[in-house]
Amino acid sequence: MNDVSRFKVGIVGCGRVGATIAYTLMLDGTITDLVLFDLDIRKADGEKLDLEHGLPLLDRVKIRVAEKYEDLSDCGIIIITAGLAQKQGESRLDLVQKNSQIVKDIFKNLNKVNKSAIVIMVTNPVDILTCMVTNLVGNKKRNLVFGTGTLLDTLRFRYYLSEKIGVNSKNIHAYILGEHGDNSFPVCKGAMIGGEKLLDFPGVNHKIIDEAYLKTKLAAAEIINKKGATYYGIAITVSKIVEAILSDAGTIFPLSVYLNGEYKLKNVALSVPCELGMNGIKRILEIDLSKDEQSKMKKAAMVLSCNR
Ligand code: NAI
Repeated sequence: MNDVSRFKVGIVGCGRVGATIAYTLMLDGTITDLVLFDLDIRKADGEKLDLEHGLPLLDRVKIRVAEKYEDLSDCGIIIITAGLAQKQGESRLDLVQKNSQIVKDIFKNLNKVNKSAIVIMVTNPVDILTCMVTNLVGNKKRNLVFGTGTLLDTLRFRYYLSEKIGVNSKNIHAYILGEHGDNSFPVCKGAMIGGEKLLDFPGVNHKIIDEAYLKTKLAAAEIINKKGATYYGIAITVSKIVEAILSDAGTIFPLSVYLNGEYKLKNVALSVPCELGMNGIKRILEIDLSKDEQSKMKKAAMVLSCNR
C-alpha cells in the first residue's frame, strides 16, 4: 500500500458502530479520507452530511460514500462493522450464522478490488469472523487481518480495576485475553502496576480482580439492556488501532489474530498481545501464562472452533 492510500480508511457498515467510528476517526485527525460503505446508501449519505458539518473546525478529512466495492479499492485500511448486533439476552456466538454469510459476501467482492488493505474486523462474533476472513484471503496474509478482540475488554478491565484501587488506568498493565466473549480471561501472571506485580500492589487481591473481571464480562450485556447497543467504547478502540498503524510506533495491543502455532494453537483466531506497525501485525507476543491461564486459552480456542 502506498503512502497516500495508507491514510484512506474505508468503513463497511455504517450503523451505530460504523458511524461512531467515522466520528472518532474524524476527531482524531490522523486520516485524510474516509469512505463510508453500507447496503443502505441513503443512511451512509446521511452520516456523511452530518459528519461534514464539523469539518470547518477540524483537520481536513475528505468523506465519500461508496456506491460500489470499487470505491474501496484505494483504501489502506478497511474496517468491517457490517452485520447484525446482539439483542438483549443474545450472546455474540448467536450471531455466527447470519454474520458469517454477510462477511463472506463482503469479502467475495472486496477481494476483487483491494487485496492489500489492512482489515480490522469488528463485527461479532469477532474471533470466528477474523479466522474465517484470514482463511478467505490466505493465512500468509494474516498480518493484514485482525479483530479488535479483547482490546475493548482489556480497557474495561483496567477501568474497573482503577475505579477500585484508585490508580490511573494508564498505569495498569494487565490484559484480558482469549475470546471476545464468555471465554475471555484476565492474565495475572505478568500483570504489573507501575513496575509492581499486580497482586503485590496495595489493595489488589484475587477478589478485586475477579470482581473487575466479572464487571468486564457483563459490561456489553448491561449496556445493551440499558440502551440497546454499545458503540462509543468500541469506536475509540478502533480509532486508537488506526492511529497505532499509521504512526508505526510499535504499539502493543491485545488483538484477535489467526494463530499458526503460537500458544500451541492453530487455525483459530483469538486475542493475544500483538505489536502493530504500518503493515498491520508486526509480531505476536508469546507471553508467559500460568497453567490455569493456559487452560483457559485452550478452552477459548476449543469453544471457538466448535462454534464456527
Ligand atoms: P447496526 O445494525 O446499527 O449496523 C449494522 C450496519 O451494517 C447497518 O447499517 C446495515 O445496513 C449494514 N450492513 C449489513 N449488511 C451489510 C453489507 N453486506 N454490506 C454493507 N453494510 C451492511 O449494528 P451495530 O450496532 O453498528 O453493530 C455492528 C456489529 O458490530 C455487530 O455485529 C456488533 O455485534 C458488533 N460490535 C462489535 C464490538 C466489538 O467489540 N468487536 C462492539 C460493539 C459491536
